Amino acid sequence: HHTPLILPSLLAADFANVESEVKRAADAGAQWLHLDVMDGNFVDNISFGPAMIEAVRRHTDMFLDVHLMIHRPDHYLDRFVAAGANNISIHVEADYVSSVAQTLARIKAAGISAGLVLNPATPFEAALPYLDQIDLLLIMTVVPGFGGQPFMETETMPKLAAARDHRDAHHLKYHLQVDGGIYPHTIPIARRNGANLLVCGTSSYGKLNTNHDMKAAMQELAA
Ligand code: DX5
Ligand code: ZN
Repeated sequence: HHTPLILPSLLAADFANVESEVKRAADAGAQWLHLDVMDGNFVDNISFGPAMIEAVRRHTDMFLDVHLMIHRPDHYLDRFVAAGANNISIHVEADYVSSVAQTLARIKAAGISAGLVLNPATPFEAALPYLDQIDLLLIMTVVPGFGGQPFMETETMPKLAAARDHRDAHHLKYHLQVDGGIYPHTIPIARRNGANLLVCGTSSYGKLNTNHDMKAAMQELAA
């Protein structure tokens, strides 16, 4: 069930060539593609919205893992579902029209996977009320907003281990995902503390380096 997977993050791809970048990830062996939606408000960057998810969906059968770094995700939820998301993850720190619990319930009612995300400064306890509603818990390993930041080991690994220990003690099933600064040298640390879904932006796509061999990079990350 908790098989390790490397998830390329489209944020590190060439936005001028999205179709070929999606195919590059699939050809490199990716099963899940991570899609970072940023609103310039919840985080200090703007990336893309439902139109991008819909465009990606037309070119792949990959599992689309949508990470919403936006306020009022419940206001936009139906558009991301309609666009073809297979998992939608929401931040516990965001503002809601309704609530975190109601939004998770709506994601599940749409028949897709539901994720909850904790920023580095947010304690594991903030997720406790929702653990029976989620399919994955994302422990951010950088402050979200930008790719290419360093892995925050001391701030986030004890929390990841606590999330793993709590899950196993209570016979819960959620996947544990990490996102930010994931490279061949940080994967063993994240794996040891319980992560099985490893989001890799810069380390998979290679950040606009046209000589970059994504398949070789994915193999090194999965080793
Ligand atoms: C960070 C995003 C990440 C980002 C990771 O705000 O949520 O998914 O793409 O990028 P790297 O792997 O370069 O740290
Ligand atoms: Zn992300």
